[in-house]
Amino acid sequence: MLALWLWTASVVTGAADPALIPQPQSLELKDGVFTLTSGTRIYTDPVSADTGVYLADHLQPATGFRLKVSSKLAPDVATVSGIVLTTQNADASLGAEGYELTAKTNVVVITAPTQAGLFYGVQTLLQLLPPEIYATQRVKGEHWQLPCVKIEDRPRFAWRGLMLDVSRHFFNKTEVKQLLDAMALHKQNTFHWHLVDDNGWRIEIKKYPKLTSEGAWRSAVGFGLDPAATTAYGPDGRYGGFYTQDDIREVVAYAQKLHITIVPEIEMPGHSLAALSAYPELGSGPGPFKVPLQGGVNPGIYSPAKEEAFEFLQNVLAEVAGLFPSPYIHIGGDEVPKGPWKHDAACQELMKREGLKNEEELQSYFVRRVEKIVNANGKRLIGWSEILQGGLAQNATVMDWIGGAYEAASQGHDVVMTPTSHCYLDYYQSQDRSTEPRAIGGYLPLQTVYSLDPIPARLSPEQQKHILGVQGNVWTEYIPNFRQVEYMAFPRLTALAEIGWSPKSAHNFDDFTRRLKTDEQRLDQLGVNHRVETSVKIGEWVPAQITTNGVALDWDVTPNVAAAGQTKVSLNYNQGACGIDITGVALLADGVEISRDDHAGFTGSSPRKPVYTLDVPAPKPGTHYTLRAQVAGSGGTDSQGSVFWNLKPTTGK
Ligand code: ACM
Repeated sequence: MLALWLWTASVVTGAADPALIPQPQSLELKDGVFTLTSGTRIYTDPVSADTGVYLADHLQPATGFRLKVSSKLAPDVATVSGIVLTTQNADASLGAEGYELTAKTNVVVITAPTQAGLFYGVQTLLQLLPPEIYATQRVKGEHWQLPCVKIEDRPRFAWRGLMLDVSRHFFNKTEVKQLLDAMALHKQNTFHWHLVDDNGWRIEIKKYPKLTSEGAWRSAVGFGLDPAATTAYGPDGRYGGFYTQDDIREVVAYAQKLHITIVPEIEMPGHSLAALSAYPELGSGPGPFKVPLQGGVNPGIYSPAKEEAFEFLQNVLAEVAGLFPSPYIHIGGDEVPKGPWKHDAACQELMKREGLKNEEELQSYFVRRVEKIVNANGKRLIGWSEILQGGLAQNATVMDWIGGAYEAASQGHDVVMTPTSHCYLDYYQSQDRSTEPRAIGGYLPLQTVYSLDPIPARLSPEQQKHILGVQGNVWTEYIPNFRQVEYMAFPRLTALAEIGWSPKSAHNFDDFTRRLKTDEQRLDQLGVNHRVETSVKIGEWVPAQITTNGVALDWDVTPNVAAAGQTKVSLNYNQGACGIDITGVALLADGVEISRDDHAGFTGSSPRKPVYTLDVPAPKPGTHYTLRAQVAGSGGTDSQGSVFWNLKPTTGK
């Protein structure tokens, strides 16, 4: 009995079946295991001592071992028992973030040309151990073993990012650090901090104190949300908050230890009502400029006809540049309403004087001037897709959310991919909205996120080098607390981490979901709130089955009728030119209908009520259960999708 238990335990710890996310470039599994004990030593070369201490710090809580770190010994790897972290004799072709990890029964050696590479090797080492290694308390009775392996690894892309909007709702520095930790777990390296928008200005600027005394607060939570869903209130009851410059320095230093670059975003010339509420004299349009209680495209924008607006931005950006070591400053640039400039005599006069044909060119004039300020502060400008309108600034990098990647990269500009179709982590994760927190809309399931190829079609190999990488965006209009930020981000951000790191040839959704089971245990240990998929895929439809005048599609659900209860059946369009109209879904027992939901539904890129609720009986042995959907192609037959089953057994007596 005991022997059987031990054998099972070693299987569940995964020693024989590593569940690494992101999947490394190459991994060879060998016979044997390395066992971590209280006597294991960490040896580093002198420059890698801090990384050695990081490893010791992260092994300690769960194991209770305080491993000694020695940065002087040059161990004979044939005789020591230990972990070696070194940059010596590293293969330079591993690049700025690559590493090699070799685990034998007596020694684990991680070699990398840089500390970032060693750090990623350490992340892999931690993931090779049982997920309990991430526990914050001592775990008793665990065997701290990892399989013998040889791993060679380096990222596909240099920019593996997450954007957090802290303007719509404020998240404090402790919460931001928790998010940075979760990014490091999956080897992500860029945190894009959306510090400024209409709904709140979140960074202290010494020269302009009203930005935070006025612009960081609004009268209520807004967005139609429950005031009790959040805790971000000031002492005077106003809603909001901001980071002092000391807070910013603290978070930047924390990120640096995790090899994460923080790219600050100071949004302009649109989405700027928070700034204009404090300094209305910089705006274009009639005002009054007031921090709004809703999102969307609000009319408050800076005036490019006012030199004092550029002077203000120059002073703000100088302070921002001094706080962030990032080579980039993001200046926003999206969704600029042109109305105020159209009706502003000074702006129209400026356009005549500068020979600008339309307001798009005026926007481009604005961005080009700001680029000079950004460059003068030793930084590069990055902005959303719309900075392409009216002509791209000289050295600008484009963050593609609604297109522009091909245009920018083919003109020799760098691009970061954040398309709404795959990277907007504020969209619903399930078609069944009744089981999800209210979201901004859309539908972005894990599988769709994972299907992203960040390289746009048509780019030549030379142009492809301009695609820096990929980023998930957490806009927070409907996300008033940090638990919900985590829920929306995970596991979709985990999928993007793999897309950003692993070679395309290693992408395999089924294998990813297998490894995700272990990764969810890591997130649980770390206290990260993540979504768990409770529905199971029971079948698919393909174009050959679809007709435009209606057809019944059947799937065998005998194994899924596992208990009496209620099931939610969801029809998920995946691809093709057409969605499908659904007139009803029924459950049949040996061909006889026993439950039906016949509301009208549609699944396509904008689904409408594609979730059907059916009563499920206690299964009778020998009975064959069939799910039948009555569907018709909407305007054609080119439709492919998946069918999910989510059974909630009846509980109680
Ligand atoms: C954006 O989502 N407005 C960049």
